[in-house]
Amino acid sequence: MNFNFDTVPNIIFETGAASRLGEIVKERMQRPCVVTDKGVIGAGLIDRALKSLKAAGLDYHLFDGVEADPPAKVVKGAIEAARVHKADGVIGFGGGSSMDTAKVIACLINSSQTLEEIYGMDQVRGARVPLVLLPTTSGTGSEVTNISVITTDDDQKMGVLGPQLYADLAVLDASLTLSMPRHVTSATGIDAMVHAIEAYTTKFKKNPVSDALATKALKLLSSNIQAACDTPDDIEAREAMLLGAMLAGQAFANAPCAAVHAMAYPLGVHFHVPHGLANALMLAPVLRFNTPAAAPLYAELGDVIGANATGDFEARAESFVAKMTEICAATGVKSRLSEVGVSHNVLPKLAEDAVKIERLMKNNPRPVAYDDALALYTEVL
Ligand SMILES: [Fe+2]
Repeated sequence: MNFNFDTVPNIIFETGAASRLGEIVKERMQRPCVVTDKGVIGAGLIDRALKSLKAAGLDYHLFDGVEADPPAKVVKGAIEAARVHKADGVIGFGGGSSMDTAKVIACLINSSQTLEEIYGMDQVRGARVPLVLLPTTSGTGSEVTNISVITTDDDQKMGVLGPQLYADLAVLDASLTLSMPRHVTSATGIDAMVHAIEAYTTKFKKNPVSDALATKALKLLSSNIQAACDTPDDIEAREAMLLGAMLAGQAFANAPCAAVHAMAYPLGVHFHVPHGLANALMLAPVLRFNTPAAAPLYAELGDVIGANATGDFEARAESFVAKMTEICAATGVKSRLSEVGVSHNVLPKLAEDAVKIERLMKNNPRPVAYDDALALYTEVL
């Protein structure tokens, strides 16, 4: 059995750690560019962290212009702002969009490459400046992955993948996730569960380390998502969700995602459906579709989430899919495309776009042709 496994070299998992961020990062950088969005600023989430940077004598620049599904022009503006500040390090503070933007800034701030030149796998040349990431949602796992997803001017989702995209340090402070509203807790938590499931069932690069991480992640996430939704200040549930999302991130960074993500991306591109919600919408139909090809693995995941089924692989796999669907529905997440503004006449375009995302589709346990994709979208319209 041969495999590779990479992850970030340093993780601090400590509730309250953001309050001592200055002390944590001061050996790595003196003039950080702090990358976040206006939602994080408005919720006051970053105040204590900025105060601690100042107290540690760090001369930081705050870039708070990150937008969801980071558009290339916003990322370029952020790189420029970091250059003007002569930043010697980058701190990404927020959801996946802020962390993805921070990763790209760290790669390009001292580089002659353009953003367009680094799209794809292993296109980043040279080293980046020090990079520290703090997630404020429990979903993307971006703090421990080697990918940024950027939206081009013509609405294409482009991935930047490479070893430089792994941060030097991830700081996980569950207190930052306490104020997430229910619909965000639910959608991001389901996205994290999708990462675990797709990593465990990927056709390529499945490996025992990712498997161990994915099963632990799925157990934590599936058994805590309801408490995190119902009791937002339940810090233990929040810690479990944050840990689960990170473990799932480590898993899928090495054993990549598949059709749920491929089907979700066109919903983000054409209807601005948030990434987590788009994944939540497509999870149940894709699991049902995959069951004939993935039954033994789904049966194992059924044991992980307590589906308690007996019988052959098919029966246990069906119980897994039913239980997953039930866990997601209980959070109150939307389950129909029509609820997010998708209408019947655009489904062919969505299906066409989804099957083109070969980077993800090739990992799916069952091949997805155009007709399959169209049927899957139709099923949840
Ligand atoms: Fe995702």
